[in-house]
Amino acid sequence: MSCDDDTPFGVTRRQVIEGGAAFAVLGFVRPGFATEVNPVAPPVLLTDPGLSTMAVRLTVNGSDKALNLDTRTTLLDALREHLGLTGSKKGCDHGQCGACTVLVNGRRINSCLSLAAMHEGDKITTIEGFATGDVLHPLQAAFVHHDGFQCGYCTPGQICSAAGMLSEHQAGMPSVVTADLTQDPALTDDELRERMSGNICRCAAYPNIVAAIKDASGATL
Ligand code: FES
Ligand code: FES
Repeated sequence: MSCDDDTPFGVTRRQVIEGGAAFAVLGFVRPGFATEVNPVAPPVLLTDPGLSTMAVRLTVNGSDKALNLDTRTTLLDALREHLGLTGSKKGCDHGQCGACTVLVNGRRINSCLSLAAMHEGDKITTIEGFATGDVLHPLQAAFVHHDGFQCGYCTPGQICSAAGMLSEHQAGMPSVVTADLTQDPALTDDELRERMSGNICRCAAYPNIVAAIKDASGATL
């Protein structure tokens, strides 16, 4: 039987595929379908800036910043769009890739998942705050030394996340692969990979990222 033979319902495979493609490309919806079967609420528009903005003070890479932001602004957008700090990257914008990782009061977070308004008075560190003048942070130097990147898009998030992860490890925090919770966990490759698993590298530079972080941590390679 060829793929264009009639099905038992009198519809060919080609007709089904062509119909599906039309729906996907043209966004076709039968008139009245959305309101009859799946009502869609109209978007809520916040038209009064006085109701939707607020003053937020942040300390970013050691500098005090005063912003007046739409309350819906994420920390990532505040950094990138309002402060011009584009080192932190927007990969997925919903907490899946880690490209937006920054440090807030020393702890790593996905800045795309956090509203700027939640960080009044917080100390934010982005990748722009790692080097001291022309001297690279040890993690930055190790990533360069070990070729811990290819395109580099994930790298600012990897480095911020690694800094937070090393602090967590030094504080004795276990991970899901820590076998003995009565001992400080060694920074094995398994531990390191698990602890960095929230940071995706689409170039798959993982072996070199692991080597760079272990090098910067002072762990035995
Ligand atoms: Fe924030 Fe992907 S952009 S996790
Ligand atoms: Fe390209 Fe990680 S270096 S995504």
